[in-house]
Amino acid sequence: MENQAAKTEPVSETAGKTDPSAAGQDQQRPVEEINPFDYPGTERVRIRHLETKQMSQEDIDRVLQLTGQHEAFEILMMYYDCALVEVRTKLEVLNREVSLKKNRNPFESIKSRLKKPVSIYEKLKHRRIPFSVENIEKYLTDVAGLRVICSFIDDIYSIRDSLASQDDVRIIQEKDYIAHPKPNGYRSLHLILEVPIYLMQEKKYMRVELQFRTIAMDFWASVEHKMKYKREIRNAESIVEELRYSADLINQLDRRMLQIRDRIELNEEGDRVMSEWH
Ligand code: GTP
Ligand code: MG
Repeated sequence: MENQAAKTEPVSETAGKTDPSAAGQDQQRPVEEINPFDYPGTERVRIRHLETKQMSQEDIDRVLQLTGQHEAFEILMMYYDCALVEVRTKLEVLNREVSLKKNRNPFESIKSRLKKPVSIYEKLKHRRIPFSVENIEKYLTDVAGLRVICSFIDDIYSIRDSLASQDDVRIIQEKDYIAHPKPNGYRSLHLILEVPIYLMQEKKYMRVELQFRTIAMDFWASVEHKMKYKREIRNAESIVEELRYSADLINQLDRRMLQIRDRIELNEEGDRVMSEWH
């Protein structure tokens, strides 16, 4: 769907109005003043040509080169990458503490990713925001993302609370799709954090998206994702209905697993007390 929208969307106010006589003047303008959707002269024509088709990684590279933003883009991506390292370390510290105190790992897996330049480009374009390094940082919150898979729902909230209580972490948005699932049945806890990265000369806050899910929720989301991105799908309505029903089953399963775990832990606690007394 996004690609469709991107193809039909007008690229810019000035697109197609290139006046070759103005090209010389445009090229005199300093790079900082160039609106990326108002490219100067012949460059505007070249970039306009690029934007009418599905953009590839090479095309994005050319746009960045032509608008003089290549280096700034690389630096920004490096900052996001560092922010991922920072958040991962925080999660790893919590993992070690919980593992030692509760004798189990709160996390099943942690996956991190940097959004691909093509996806960044498409997302801005879809929202009709000019593609520039400044706008990426200003408008996108999911360039750096982590997906944290836990076995149990209560671990998700205790990790969330621990992160929220850290001095240098700012939670700037929370979407609790566990307490309030999406109409299709999607469940996860989404946080947008701001975390500092410590550079040579400055401390810079970067935004990172965190998605917390149980194993069961993740299983559901991966199956649902497959369906969403299929172009033609037969019996779509009944599949959607089945997914919604399965999401409820998964929710029940998650809650039952929590009860089972608590009963096991209670047993362990009882055994420990008994062994201390005898
Ligand atoms: P986008 O970031 O543009 O997606 O919009 P948003 O910020 O309003 O979205 P939201 O925070 O609700 O979700 C962001 C991400 O969560 C998506 O990119 C997906 O990875 C995941 N997600 C959200 N809703 C669904 C869903 O219905 N199904 C699946 N499989 N994943 C979802
Ligand atoms: Mg988002």
